[in-house]
Order: sequence, then structure tokens, then C-alpha cells
Amino acid sequence: MPVVTIMPSGKTIDMPVGTRLVDAILAAGESIAQKCEGKGECDTCHIFVHEGRKSISKIQRKENEQLDSIVGVGSKSRLACQAILGEENVTVELLGFASGL
Ligand code: FES
Repeated sequence: MPVVTIMPSGKTIDMPVGTRLVDAILAAGESIAQKCEGKGECDTCHIFVHEGRKSISKIQRKENEQLDSIVGVGSKSRLACQAILGEENVTVELLGFASGL
């Protein structure tokens, strides 16, 4: 099972392939806002994926459109509710506004 490492806390959790990153983050005991309840229609679950980007699901049109509207978006940006874990370990970074801080 791939390991998800969550920064900045450094918490890790093993999750099955096919798990949404948002669910892995919550399962690790971290908080992440989901204003649209995981429909890919807001930006509150915006995270950076630092490692393992190639193994997670590709960005679909809806996510891409949403990311385009976010200030501070970068090549590592994903919406945690739309990104699905693949075979490889991943390291993600929670952003201050996404964790509700
Ligand atoms: S919770 Fe709204 S886009 Fe992920």
C-alpha cells in the first residue's frame, strides 16, 4: 500500500490504491476544508503534491478549470478531493487556507 506523507506535520498513513487524497489526509487526523463537499467546485482543498505526482490520477477538465481560478496555483497544485492515489508513495503539503487555519 502506498504511504501518504502529509506536510508540514510529517504524519504518514498507509492507504489503499484508489483512495482520494482528501480521504487520506482526513484519515491521518489532519483537517482540510471541503466547502463543496468534494465535488471539485471550490478551491478549499487545494494542496501541493511534492512527491509521487506521476502516480496519482490525472487532472481532469473540471479540476483544471478550478485550479485555473486559484491564486498561488503551481505545477504541484491539486484539489485533494479529485486526486486519487496510485501505486507510489506521495508527499503532500497542506496549505494554510486549505486546512482552515
Ligand atoms: S472540496 Fe471543493 S474542490 Fe475539493
